[in-house]
Amino acid sequence: MIVAGNWKMNGSLRQGKELLAALVVPQGVEVIVCPPATLLGGLAASGRSDLQWGGQDCHAQPSGAFTGDIAAEMLAEVGASFVLVGHSERRQLHGETSGVVREKALAAQRAGLKPILCIGETLAEREAGKVEQVLAAQLSESLPESFTADAFILAYEPIWAIGTGKVASLEMIAAVHNFLISRLPGGGKLLYGGSVNAENAGAILSLPQVHGVLVGGASLKAESFNAIIRAAQEQSRKT
Ligand code: PGA
Repeated sequence: MIVAGNWKMNGSLRQGKELLAALVVPQGVEVIVCPPATLLGGLAASGRSDLQWGGQDCHAQPSGAFTGDIAAEMLAEVGASFVLVGHSERRQLHGETSGVVREKALAAQRAGLKPILCIGETLAEREAGKVEQVLAAQLSESLPESFTADAFILAYEPIWAIGTGKVASLEMIAAVHNFLISRLPGGGKLLYGGSVNAENAGAILSLPQVHGVLVGGASLKAESFNAIIRAAQEQSRKT
């Protein structure tokens, strides 16, 4: 079971250290923390061998005149093993196309990072009955053909469920995950994200095609992050 925490643009070094000090990571759960890039090195250097680290985005190039951007190699150098690519906030607020996301996924691999590739539909797309069409297009355009199952993690994050408190129903998650898993290389890992919290994590993680969760808001407080990690541990004991 995987629990990935995406802190987005939140927190200071002091707050991050306090949160991590309170985090309990049991056997059977892979916890990946994706703090803001400025905190990554400092937190990763704290010597927590029970945690893994991820960036929230990377540039496709290893270096160059790209003001404000961060190369995958730079994230790897300060302790990251993962990087989110194609998060909907990057796609929507920074105009990232699936083609750009694909380049970033390749850059992550080049740097030795495992990309957590995010895809998801808008509410309008869901209401128009286009969920499978939209996700299939995002997947085929963002995922490099050369990627084997262990080269990446896929995260399904319906855009209307991110940061809204509107979690997708278990039926919706199960239907989409079944659809996506049939399109991944055998053994591919699939996370659900979008308003996951201490209360709903157990039921979501109990679905057969859910290998973990990508958590935003609820990963910013030790109490809720720990509760989600505990829920993942319970599910990993059952499987
Ligand atoms: P949320 O964010 O848990 O706050 O909805 C999830 C995400 O954006 O990865």
